[in-house]
Amino acid sequence: MPSDHAAVHTTRSTKPALRILIASGVNLDLLGKREPEYYGHATLPDMEVLLRAQASTFKFAVDLTFFQTNDEAKYLDILTREWDGAVLNPGAWTHTSLALADRLAALKLRFVEVHLSKVTAREPIRHLSFLAPTAIGCVSGFGIDSYRLGLLGLLDVIRK
Ligand code: DQA
Repeated sequence: MPSDHAAVHTTRSTKPALRILIASGVNLDLLGKREPEYYGHATLPDMEVLLRAQASTFKFAVDLTFFQTNDEAKYLDILTREWDGAVLNPGAWTHTSLALADRLAALKLRFVEVHLSKVTAREPIRHLSFLAPTAIGCVSGFGIDSYRLGLLGLLDVIRK
């Protein structure tokens, strides 16, 4: 009788797992307690459960790494060429960080930009994204589901 572990792998391809980073930036640790009218009531751990459940439905192997920091240098440092792709919600750094834009352009990391709130319906400063020019695409306004939709879009592109 194969173990559960072996049984899972028989349904998967023999290709190595895609390494995907899910990185949330400044103040996103406060999700669930923070301005629910914009961000909803779900927390970052809820988002992780949602994405892991989605990943368990794939017929290919995906290795998800979840990361959050309020330190911009740490956010930059985790963005390396080691990832096959990334889902990025940098929070307010989206609208302020030329350093983040430069790093993403330099690495040529394939990523989708996501936001819980519909940033284009908010203050004009939030309409500007330093990441958007190098992003595969942007998903905004679906609460934590923005991350899940961003992951689906990312995988669709990088698996082609
Ligand atoms: C956010 C939108 C940003 O404008 C804001 O600064 C955040 C969260 C979002 O997910 O909706 O911190 O990235």
